[in-house]
Amino acid sequence: MVLNSSSPAAVIVLAAGAGTRMKSDLPKILHPMGGRSLVGHALDAAMSLNPEHLVAVVRHQRERVVEHLLEHNSELVIADQDEVPGTGRAVEQGLEAIGAVTGTVVVTYGDVPLLTPETLNALVSEHQNSRNAVTVLSANVPDATGYGRIVRDEQGLVSGIVEHKDALKIAEETGDSTIANITEINSGIYAFDGEILARTLAEVTTDNVQGEKYLTDVLGLARAEGGRVATYVTDDLMEVEGVNDRTQLSALGAELNRRITDRWMRAGVTIVDPATTWIDVDVDLAQDVTIKPNTQLHGATKIAPGAVIGPDTTLQDVIVDEEATVRRTEAIEAVIGIGANVGPFTYLRPGTVLGDTGKIGAFYETKNVKIGRGAKLSHLGYAGDAEIGENSNIGCGNITANYDGVNKHRTVIGAEVRTGSNTVFTAPVEIGDGAYTAAGAVIRKDVPAGSLAMNAMEQRTIEGWVLERRPDSAAAKAARASNEKS
Ligand code: UD1
Ligand code: MG
Repeated sequence: MVLNSSSPAAVIVLAAGAGTRMKSDLPKILHPMGGRSLVGHALDAAMSLNPEHLVAVVRHQRERVVEHLLEHNSELVIADQDEVPGTGRAVEQGLEAIGAVTGTVVVTYGDVPLLTPETLNALVSEHQNSRNAVTVLSANVPDATGYGRIVRDEQGLVSGIVEHKDALKIAEETGDSTIANITEINSGIYAFDGEILARTLAEVTTDNVQGEKYLTDVLGLARAEGGRVATYVTDDLMEVEGVNDRTQLSALGAELNRRITDRWMRAGVTIVDPATTWIDVDVDLAQDVTIKPNTQLHGATKIAPGAVIGPDTTLQDVIVDEEATVRRTEAIEAVIGIGANVGPFTYLRPGTVLGDTGKIGAFYETKNVKIGRGAKLSHLGYAGDAEIGENSNIGCGNITANYDGVNKHRTVIGAEVRTGSNTVFTAPVEIGDGAYTAAGAVIRKDVPAGSLAMNAMEQRTIEGWVLERRPDSAAAKAARASNEKS
């Protein structure tokens, strides 16, 4: 029978460790994965249980870690761990920060990013339905090195956990490696009865190989006082895997991405090459979106039905509307309208809003520009701090010269405007509806609606110049041949 669990009294997320093996200035739990920090993933899973208290235990790089934690959840309780080492001490101080609790207390780690709300919830349900003193999330692994071993009695009930190093010591001293050979391991994630946890933790000592106060000793003590200690076994090893170094960071990051791309494909998104497609956890994709190889979708990017993204495209916080096409593009905080077309080789910076059916073509850079419905900026140019009206056609190589070296100025272009190639708009300047500019025009003054603006110098042609000045050149030879023909 599956019952829904009731919200735990507290979730304590352990995050005091130094993470030395990362060899990083950045605290381990702040390293990003899938658009979120490692501890951000842990907090989100914890928050899904809707606990009365959410506690994080910190110590290493405290200020930096706390700032990040509170940014993620401002109601989080911060508990500081003192110089006594060990997971037991960490939990003890987590409990001290919230005072006496009755009910379920869940303990998780800040460096285990793939743990899902579903598994946590199942652990808590199992714990509450079986009225356990402790329920530990365990797994059977091919290599138990480094993990605490789940030790069971003759009836198969859990009698305690023996840490890896202590198991090796027992084997060495007694010649019996039964415990060392156990392959069921402690994930480090548990549901406890809060009162039993507080009571037994007070009895835990640092008398072990590592001189640490082990949280795992609580299991044996709870059992000794007659409590039921059980496991909830998961067969999804990745969910309980922690990040200790950068090879694990990348392996778990790839696994997270595999799960995310899988989920979207099942939801009706075509992902041509999941291995080269990276999608952050908060990205939102509609049915019948197509994603081509080498594409990264970051942040709060949202893609509507029928849009085709990629290949070779990176979008950060971009909204793409229905049926739009975006290829070989880098875009940040931009909005791309229905049926619009972007790329290839296009750079959209923050504040770019492309209207429905509009186009921003090859080798264009845009920033803070609102482009009307059906307007086209097809090739080679820069548009910044500007507004471009509906159906206007901006010629090849146009530039909005928005910066005078001190201030930024706006260019406002009306609807149905046609600009000649290489027009430069020296902002601030306004172009009226239906106006034209000539090729090479440098627009310094406003152009009224329906006018043609031009200011290129009249062309001067010096006939015979090449034959006279470069008589032996290939150009002169070609010119002479051409003259002889005519
Ligand atoms: C711990 C468990 C072990 C389990 C393994 C799973 C204990 C004694 N052992 O081992 O049975 O198989 O996790 O990964 O609990 N932390 C603190 N304060 C501390 C020490 C650790 O907050 O003083 C935090 C760390 O930041 C980390 C987590 O607790 O997030 C686990 O610490 P770690 O040192 O990796 O635990 P292990 O000794 O590997
Ligand atoms: Mg350790």
